[in-house]
Amino acid sequence: MKRILVTGGAGFIGSAFVRYQLRRYPDVHIVVLDKLTYAGNLDNLKEAASDRFTFIRGDVANREDAANAMNGCDAIAHFAAESHVDRSLAGAADFISTNVAGVNVILEEALARGIKRILLVSTDEVYGSIESGAFAEDAPLRPRNPYAASKAAGELFGLAFHASHGSPVLITRGSNTYGPYQYPEKALPLFITNAIDGQPLPIYGDGRNVRDWLFVDDHCSGIDLVLRNGEPGQIYNIADGNEKQNNEVARRLLELMNASPSLIRFVRDRAGHDRRYAIDSSKIRALGWTPATGWEDGMAATVRWYKENEWWWRKIKRGDFREYYDRLYGPLLSE
Ligand code: NAD
Ligand code: TYD
Repeated sequence: MKRILVTGGAGFIGSAFVRYQLRRYPDVHIVVLDKLTYAGNLDNLKEAASDRFTFIRGDVANREDAANAMNGCDAIAHFAAESHVDRSLAGAADFISTNVAGVNVILEEALARGIKRILLVSTDEVYGSIESGAFAEDAPLRPRNPYAASKAAGELFGLAFHASHGSPVLITRGSNTYGPYQYPEKALPLFITNAIDGQPLPIYGDGRNVRDWLFVDDHCSGIDLVLRNGEPGQIYNIADGNEKQNNEVARRLLELMNASPSLIRFVRDRAGHDRRYAIDSSKIRALGWTPATGWEDGMAATVRWYKENEWWWRKIKRGDFREYYDRLYGPLLSE
């Protein structure tokens, strides 16, 4: 694999994947196509500066942008997406444009160019909630929020292209990911940066919702393995098995930060809040994947990173984020 197109490479996981590729494969050239939405940030790619790296600003749902970026590439790792559930609950038009129509454009243009591997990065949220046990890859898709529905739709286009045109499509379904450079709308970076500022940690509902936390570099190593060694047409779950209730996550973060548990504030629940996500990752483990960073080490490293990199998140929190935060959390925190 000589030249890989990474869409959404200026986001949280995409930028970690770019760093991972440049670090691990001395001969690879990475092309990033990113629209630089509110979540895209060139600061995330500072460490990627190299003559083996090209950045293109553009939209995956725009045919010319997609075609131009994939020229000369032999593989695509498709991360670009609208990624936040709360935003999808407030309006899903951008989710449909990027996560569904955008996937279709990538698939059509990749087919026209005979691209050899197309990996669609998806999520465990496509399965919906599960009370006990864990979903394997052949479980039915029951997405329960607009973000998850748009990701499921994108995946189905991928599988349909594989079935009808033989497109070499691979799908990964990763669990909740955390680590450095995550936009502070997501639970972990929101809680950490709020705690640094002595601000409340807003926990939805009773805080007993369960997520399975995966360190970002482990998510990247899983995606890399599937991109290189997975079987086209197949789906691979990626999860570490770190199931935690949100309450437990918030309490442990506050402990690690020597901050008071009184910062925890229970607020009105998110609409349709999925109770528990759990997936069975034996298929990718059989391919040779093992996560390298446990929950305690990953959390400590993440807290340390946000403490040491205020330059990165303070300007985000002062910008458009402020308006988003006040609109969503203002009413919740004053109820
Ligand atoms: P993110 O929101 O941090 O980054 C998304 C990136 O995509 C941004 O750089 C943004 O500018 C770019 N983008 C958005 N719309 C675009 C468009 N139309 N054209 C080009 N670029 C566009 O997201 P993330 O958390 O890094 O997630 C990356 C992928 O991983 C997504 O597909 C997401 O569904 C999936 N995923 C995320 C998680 C998680 O916990 N964060 C878990 C499983 C799967
Ligand atoms: P999030 O990071 O938004 O990921 P997802 O919704 O994709 O799982 O949220 C993780 C969990 O934390 C989820 O159960 C919702 C909860 N949560 C809160 O309790 N408060 C918050 O302010 C946010 C953003 C999330």
